[in-house]
Amino acid sequence: MPAPGTKQVLVEVVATSVNLSDWEGLTGSPGYARIGGLRTPAHRVLGSDIAGRVAAVGSGVTRFQVGDEVYGDNLGLMGGFAEFAVAPEAALARKPHELSFAEASTLPQAGAIALQGTARAREGSRVLINGAGGGAGSFAIQLARRSGAHVTGVDNAGKLDFMRELGADEVIDYRREDFTRREPYDLVLDLVAHRSVFAYRRALARGGHYLCVGGTVRTLLRVVTVGAALGLLTGRRLGVLVVRPGPAHFEPIAERCIAGDLRIHIDRTFPLEELPQALTYVGRGRALGKVVVTP
Ligand SMILES: NC(=O)c1ccc[n+]([C@@H]2O[C@H](COP(=O)([O-])OP(=O)(O)OC[C@H]3O[C@@H](n4cnc5c(N)ncnc54)[C@H](OP(=O)(O)O)[C@@H]3O)[C@@H](O)[C@H]2O)c1
Repeated sequence: MPAPGTKQVLVEVVATSVNLSDWEGLTGSPGYARIGGLRTPAHRVLGSDIAGRVAAVGSGVTRFQVGDEVYGDNLGLMGGFAEFAVAPEAALARKPHELSFAEASTLPQAGAIALQGTARAREGSRVLINGAGGGAGSFAIQLARRSGAHVTGVDNAGKLDFMRELGADEVIDYRREDFTRREPYDLVLDLVAHRSVFAYRRALARGGHYLCVGGTVRTLLRVVTVGAALGLLTGRRLGVLVVRPGPAHFEPIAERCIAGDLRIHIDRTFPLEELPQALTYVGRGRALGKVVVTP
């Protein structure tokens, strides 16, 4: 049983959702997933998105008490794939009663990525989301559409219908077509970057933005160095989006889900004993939207 520190909360986990970052931590790939633990894993228990009940609080905790229903992204400490997890008070928010624990657990990480990644989507702008059929992408498609943008979703063939259902105007199977050789886009949100910065630059309209959220280390490094310089020279912006975590960045998504403006899509729910299958399901790119695990 983990014990909470001064500003920490012990949460009895009712539901936890799987993110690609869990799979990356499990496999140690891309290389940034090894930060903090080059030789041995940084975390013994993975799992960052949690929803559950407060079981104990540290002496410095002021916002929560035992029994409160909470949810949040515990990316710093992890440990969510368990019956109990310790999280910093600041990472947690009160769970709205309109959302089930399973629904709430899908929002913190994927919602924050989608909200910040689509902040530049505008009425009439052309937005492309690469890796759009997974967790963050399923919210990003909806957000970009709600802002009035024309949305293109890119993912594997098994997710094309799902992306259309979420509101994508156009869909591309990345195994059949190279999106960087289509029309130029005003915003490209890339959840799985692995192409050259020249290809990404080619995909952008003048004044357009390319935001990389996840992908290979090689690509991320090239985007922040060569990509940034290339973008400046050609009137385009290429950069890595470092996603700010925390309630301020996922509570707005929860409110919009409650209002019926956004839809939460849970593909499958696995019991904790089947966590390896749940991780593999997400890691192999099968999940349509989110996958939830319940202890
Ligand atoms: N920047 C930050 O601060 C920050 C913070 C947290 C997380 N992240 C990152 O955010 C990313 C998004 O995670 P998520 O949980 O939304 O992932 P997810 O649910 O697994 O969705 C990713 C989707 O991309 C697809 N895909 C894989 N390779 C592709 C390619 N070459 N072209 C197009 N689509 C491809 C996958 O399907 P297939 O595998 O079948 O192709 C899958 O459907 C992760 O990389 C994570 O590390 C970044």
